[in-house]
Amino acid sequence: MKIAFFDSGIGGLSVLNEAKDRLDADFLFYADKDNVPYGEKPKEDILKYVDDAVSFLINEGANAIVLACNTATSVAAKILREKYDLPIIGMEPAIKYALKLNDEKRVLVIATPVTVKGEKMKELIGRVDKAHLTDLLALPKLVTFAEAGKFESDNVTKYLTEKLTPYDFEKYSAVVLGCTHFNYFKDTLRNLLPQSVSLIDGNEGTVNELKRRLDLNKNPSGENSTEYFYSGKRVTDKNELQKLNNLLLRLNKMQEIK
Ligand code: DGL
Repeated sequence: MKIAFFDSGIGGLSVLNEAKDRLDADFLFYADKDNVPYGEKPKEDILKYVDDAVSFLINEGANAIVLACNTATSVAAKILREKYDLPIIGMEPAIKYALKLNDEKRVLVIATPVTVKGEKMKELIGRVDKAHLTDLLALPKLVTFAEAGKFESDNVTKYLTEKLTPYDFEKYSAVVLGCTHFNYFKDTLRNLLPQSVSLIDGNEGTVNELKRRLDLNKNPSGENSTEYFYSGKRVTDKNELQKLNNLLLRLNKMQEIK
């Protein structure tokens, strides 16, 4: 069983990282480095990029595709599920989960502009948030910082401080990460938010769904192989592979931060 993880860039590694520990399968990882960031692009362009990547990954032997990108899911999941007949699993901001933990306080969802403005977000909130407790905030610059490898930097702290200052976090129980790139900034977010506010990502839920859909077993050996691709080209350069490995190590640390 080969499972492909797709993202516009390095954000999807956070979902792959979660799957690696838990599933008995081999993996393909595809980052659309030529076209990242997606978050402020026209929907038609995003749909074409994702369609091209999915068709490439099927040719590489993928048995299932995880759109490890909320933006790609929002724009393309429904359309591509009709076009291809293999399981396509998407990402969804964990609003339902956050409201289940606390249904009195507010929830702030941070995501890309395309995800925030998308029909899918409206539909999700309409379905799971009858009490209107959800607020939305677009943070497109975090994607650019992540792709540049700028994680713990003064610019990131300054940007997030400016964006989060207008919110009275006494009224919030959680910040939901609605973009996979944001997982790299859990340490800075944790420092800026009061302890009473939980940080919730959708990775565990997505891997649970993947496991359920594909009827996969737990990874008994803890070993599996991963092939990496950047925009349709296999990554073979040792330095680049090392870089990906370092990103996974950072994500291991971020995974501990709740
Ligand atoms: N990682 C993507 C997401 O989960 C989006 C990043 C981008 O703007 O390309 O939404």
